[in-house]
Amino acid sequence: MTHDDSSLTRRQMLAGAGSAGVLAVAGPMSVLGSARPARAASAGGAADGTPEQIHLTWGSDPASSVTVSWASPAEATRPRVQLRRGGDFGRTVPAIQRTYTDGINGETVWTYHAQITGLAPDTGYSYTVTADNDSSPAPFSATFRTAPRGRAPFRFTSFGDLATPNTQWVLSYGQSAYAVAAVESFSPLFHLLNGDLCYADLNPTVQPEVWRDFGNNNQSSAANRAWMPCPGNHEVEFNNGPQGFTSYLTRYTLPDNGERWFRGRWYSFRVGSVLFISLDADDVIYQDAGAFVAGPAALTPVASTGNPPIEPGTSFYIHGYSGGAQTAWLERTLRSARSDPSIDWIVAQMHQIACTSSVTGNGSDLGIRQQWLPLFDRYQVDLVLNGHDHDYERSFPCRGFDNMAGTEVATGAPVQTMRPHPVTTDDTGVFDTSKGTVHLVLGCGGTNANLDDYGVDEADGLPQAKVFTRANRPEATATAGVFARAAADAVEDATWSARRDTSTGYGIAVFDVDPGEPGGLTRIKVTQYHALGADPVNPTTGRPGAPTPDYTEFETFTLVRPRSDRSGRDGAVPDQVTASAQSG
Ligand SMILES: [Fe+2]
Repeated sequence: MTHDDSSLTRRQMLAGAGSAGVLAVAGPMSVLGSARPARAASAGGAADGTPEQIHLTWGSDPASSVTVSWASPAEATRPRVQLRRGGDFGRTVPAIQRTYTDGINGETVWTYHAQITGLAPDTGYSYTVTADNDSSPAPFSATFRTAPRGRAPFRFTSFGDLATPNTQWVLSYGQSAYAVAAVESFSPLFHLLNGDLCYADLNPTVQPEVWRDFGNNNQSSAANRAWMPCPGNHEVEFNNGPQGFTSYLTRYTLPDNGERWFRGRWYSFRVGSVLFISLDADDVIYQDAGAFVAGPAALTPVASTGNPPIEPGTSFYIHGYSGGAQTAWLERTLRSARSDPSIDWIVAQMHQIACTSSVTGNGSDLGIRQQWLPLFDRYQVDLVLNGHDHDYERSFPCRGFDNMAGTEVATGAPVQTMRPHPVTTDDTGVFDTSKGTVHLVLGCGGTNANLDDYGVDEADGLPQAKVFTRANRPEATATAGVFARAAADAVEDATWSARRDTSTGYGIAVFDVDPGEPGGLTRIKVTQYHALGADPVNPTTGRPGAPTPDYTEFETFTLVRPRSDRSGRDGAVPDQVTASAQSG
């Protein structure tokens, strides 16, 4: 059973509740400490502009620009940030307002964004967030640090699939509060949140409430350091924009990708000698896992939205939405980075996965392998961070692919899965990523569907991966009016799989960048910490567990590569992958 399947019953119930259900399920107060009702007015009847869900993102240059974003229950008057550095009086930065009205429950969401530029690199700042109609006793205050400029050591962290701690919502779970605390405990310069932020689409009649609990849960870390997200399949919401990303895009201000129609879906930023690329794999994957009405009831938006009922069997499938614009942007960005002698590392995050062997999760996707892995090979992308399957898995460094190594599940016939080719299967703990890309599945944030159950080919004992090689659009089931999306259509022996955590589906990856010396090697030390016992039920032992604040080391390994400023470097792009590796 996939995690999408597991939520159908509850989702059907919410969908079936129709517009009357909005009132029934929208009322419960968040467990997250905000006592204000969702659309409050103050005692005097004025709108409540009290800041909440406060979070930071990098601007275009993390060494000099940071955006402070937040929401308020109603329209804020003169929303602003007061910035201070050391003992300076500081400056006031006004925030811009962005709002939207949820296309299912008709609720208006008010968000604010103060874009701060002209900051000093590697410098601590304090700030407050307020508005004239802020009803809190004192303005919210926090601190942050800008990125260093040039080659310097720094730390970042990552996971995806976070959800909220409010277990009234489908796929939310208490671990998501501990996961946020874990980020703080490692004090990274920033955090990469690699998609499936809160699963609001699985709670379609209360999406703004789910997002609110998510934002308030994250605030305890994201107000102190940038949290840089990418969209996952569960950011795709009905009636909320051309790709369903309005809830996501309204709340986040992300580095400009220069694409007029696709801002915020993908972007890059630079810290030290590392280029970070954040992608939206929804654009290239075959699998259909966004918003979906399984039936038998339609999902009926409230009348004020003017939106018609969404009929059973409808899914919001956005494969190919950018018309190739994202892949063209990716190639331009990679080519530029690999001709820049001040950039050593290229780290990509995207939600869906090229290399996963979870058996209860979604599976690997040929779309990523076809469109992006050849670019990752050509331009030596070092590391790819994914979520989507709620577990931890590490690949060997891979380059090129093994031809026709897959098997169609339905027929047993050979099928092309473009199986990534491991350049070594010697698990030494030190990997030269100039020779191959390492993929990590980090869907280990906090959501309640632990999927740390991995495939094995019974014939040879090797890890086995499920692979989507085509779209699994909704099909009618044996139950009248009920539709389902099929599981992945192919399998392959996962020769690329190096390590899988069977003990828990929860954890956090910590990355420490060591810039090295001129002409020598640079390193990234990676440590996966995991939350033992946090699985609702561990699939290997059958043992029930509970959320836990204890994160302990699961494994550590080191990525190395030659620095790009080594003598004799000519700035040329690396050689194309060899024919032998392509056909393996
Ligand atoms: Fe996902």
